[in-house]
Amino acid sequence: MGSITLKQVSKTFGEAKVIPSIDLEINDGEFVVFVGPSGCGKSTLLRLIAGLEDVSGGQILIDGKDVTRNAPAERGLAMVFQSYALYPHMSVRNNIAFPLKMAKLDKAAIDKKVEDAARVLNLTDYLERRPSQLSGGQRQRVAIGRAIVREPSAFLFDEPLSNLDAALRGTMRLEISELHNTLKTTMIYVTHDQVEAMTMADKIVVLNRGNIEQVGSPLDLYRSPRNLFVAGFIGSPRMNFVKGENARSHGAHTIGVRPEHIDLSTSAGAWRGTVGVAEHLGSDTFLHVNADGIGTLTARVGGDLPVRHGDQVYLTPQEGRIHRFDDKGLAIK
Ligand SMILES: Nc1ncnc2c1ncn2[C@@H]1O[C@H](COP(=O)(O)OP(=O)(O)OP(=O)(O)O)[C@@H](O)[C@H]1O
Ligand SMILES: [Mg+2]
Repeated sequence: MGSITLKQVSKTFGEAKVIPSIDLEINDGEFVVFVGPSGCGKSTLLRLIAGLEDVSGGQILIDGKDVTRNAPAERGLAMVFQSYALYPHMSVRNNIAFPLKMAKLDKAAIDKKVEDAARVLNLTDYLERRPSQLSGGQRQRVAIGRAIVREPSAFLFDEPLSNLDAALRGTMRLEISELHNTLKTTMIYVTHDQVEAMTMADKIVVLNRGNIEQVGSPLDLYRSPRNLFVAGFIGSPRMNFVKGENARSHGAHTIGVRPEHIDLSTSAGAWRGTVGVAEHLGSDTFLHVNADGIGTLTARVGGDLPVRHGDQVYLTPQEGRIHRFDDKGLAIK
């Protein structure tokens, strides 16, 4: 089992209140992603859950049991970091076996657990190699293997893929999702990459300055962001925001429209503008349009549209896809 409850958890470093007060419920077996900009407190929150930092206030419960004062080893969690921290002089087998040897399991039990983990992670053929003879993705899998053999009640990942190149990150993202499907163990995954958050999470926790801005499924957050921060953070390219008369005509202080919810025309539409940069991705094109009286708007259009720098275009937000926000930045229902 691996349900985790945070009750009014706070953390202060000296004068700095990094986490004012967080309440959060993580269900057994859930894949939860903490996402937010650099310095918002993601790693700190994860380290508080792991017991690597002491809370300044509040309570942490695992499966209903108060572990706030328990040492990391007593919490039954396993942490996987961005830097794999493998032992360079040990084989893959011994790296994965390390926590089991420390726990003084017998050799047969260790071999079985290591080989089971290696099978799940596709590392069977690499067990006798040293870390230096592996690719970055394989090394990260060894680090995960070392966590798996401990059979934790939850895995805590802190930006585990940020050292990898983009292609490998994509592959590892799938592998970790598959691992979660296989093990069905609670996972908390920290990232500032909102694509990782969207693709992996059952539940996303958006953090900003140590506070939770919103908790929800990826599509909840995409469709119904609670405020301007979440609206701007979730979705890529980011949501366009328009203020002034255009917003007032919708009864809002600010309106938001995602690039994929803007229609393009060369003859007529709501907003006229000139194409600045056109980013051709092949599948789509991201048009950055300097709209008269508004500023830059991004529209996501079909990859085959022959639009280029300097073209005059008209943009129209799709009805029913306009997000409205009040003067405090809160979504208007
Ligand atoms: N040991 C510490 N002493 C003092 N301040 C700290 C300490 N650890 C973290 N902080 C501060 O707490 C804030 C949150 O840090 P944290 O590492 O949790 O951010 P993060 O969201 O993980 O950022 P990143 O995406 O850059 O990893 C930062 O302002 C940081 O400077
Ligand atoms: Mg961090």
